[in-house]
Amino acid sequence: MNEPSTLVLGQILDLHTNPFDVPPDEAARYLRRGGILIENGKIAATGDADGLRAAAPQARVIDHGDGLILPGFVDSHAHYPQTAIIASWGKRLIDWLNSYTFPEEMRFGDPAYAAEIAERYLDLLVSHGTTSVASFCTIHPSSVEAFFAAAEARNMAVVAGRTCMDRNAPDGLRDDAQTAHDESKALLETWHGRGRAVYAITPRFSPTSTPEQLEALGALWAEHPDCPMQTHLSEQTDEVDWVRDLHPHRRDYLDTYEAHGLLREGAMFGHAIWLTDSERARLRDHGAALIHCPTSNTFIGSGLFDTARAMAEGQRVGLATDTGGGSSFSMLHTMASAYEIGQLSGTALHPAQLLWLATAGSARAMRMDDRIGTLAPGSDADLVVLDLASTPAIAQRHARSETIWEAVFPTIMMGDDRAIAAVYVAGTQIAAGGSQPDHSHS
Ligand code: GUN
Ligand code: ZN
Repeated sequence: MNEPSTLVLGQILDLHTNPFDVPPDEAARYLRRGGILIENGKIAATGDADGLRAAAPQARVIDHGDGLILPGFVDSHAHYPQTAIIASWGKRLIDWLNSYTFPEEMRFGDPAYAAEIAERYLDLLVSHGTTSVASFCTIHPSSVEAFFAAAEARNMAVVAGRTCMDRNAPDGLRDDAQTAHDESKALLETWHGRGRAVYAITPRFSPTSTPEQLEALGALWAEHPDCPMQTHLSEQTDEVDWVRDLHPHRRDYLDTYEAHGLLREGAMFGHAIWLTDSERARLRDHGAALIHCPTSNTFIGSGLFDTARAMAEGQRVGLATDTGGGSSFSMLHTMASAYEIGQLSGTALHPAQLLWLATAGSARAMRMDDRIGTLAPGSDADLVVLDLASTPAIAQRHARSETIWEAVFPTIMMGDDRAIAAVYVAGTQIAAGGSQPDHSHS
């Protein structure tokens, strides 16, 4: 059944090519007065506003004025169950997991609590302009059910999976290899490909999985190769040392995954900071993704991920909040943090590169770049509209800008949820809470 088409007007910044490969102005098409024509939840055309109005005179028009229309942000690594413990003080990775994370994750065996947090989290995401996320759940199937159900109610394309752990976690958060396999498989069969849902096979990380569990999940992935696989890799040096003790037969941290069929295209490795040259080469050669989590890496004190180096090596790189190890739900804030960490590593990432990482780069890391993170015709109409003068501090700086890059950079560096003027999910404008704003006046 065809719905009436919608024409969304504003400024358009279309990053059609990877700006790490070509100069930013060649990677982007900027339209001062542009539009996105939406039909049946998908982008039918992106172009000049007047041309689209003439081509689609019957379309309902929503005019965002000077708002900057971009693909909705894509957060390629997060833990929705950690929503309520974000910004917990004073610990580094292993202590932080034991002190804050595991006690909170224990609560997700209660389906009502899982549903409450899933709803709260997705409302926070949308209010920050994020339309897709790859999230860890907890060990409880109810945590996965709650998350996919909340995403389905919003028609959001999310990636999620049951977080598997069979050692070094408290009672109540441990399974075994067979249970991890069987419960993951059942959830995968229920949810993967249902609407916009994507199931990710999710071993938490090698310290909390025995080789038997990693082997069982590798076998499951081999049966369902189109699913992604998400985990953590080399986030802190203490963790790398611990993995060496726990997996003495493996040549390095990456090998704990590789030896069990968990290294190939579709693998998403959170953090990936403390890598050897051999690990870097194998990650690239297998087409796995490295997920940069800048606010988490500084908040938990993990280290500096060198984005420019990874891109120059030809790695697949996504950008992510890593909520609640990360200190923000906002991909604007996450881009700002990536910029600052880039500066410490000797490279000023261009606004085009930051925006690309937060959209197409993350989508590519998730192998979903044919659908999301892009304004290309045929892709899903997930959009964010930015107000580039959302606070007095940003507005006065924006007033000095002469190019689109100068205009958007203050919002990248200083913006928050006040900069999110509108969000569209699969062509429908939604507000936090999932309601649809009234456009009867337009
Ligand atoms: N490594 C294993 N689990 C986690 C987690 O929940 N957060 C972060 N930041 N690192 C991890
Ligand atoms: Zn994580």
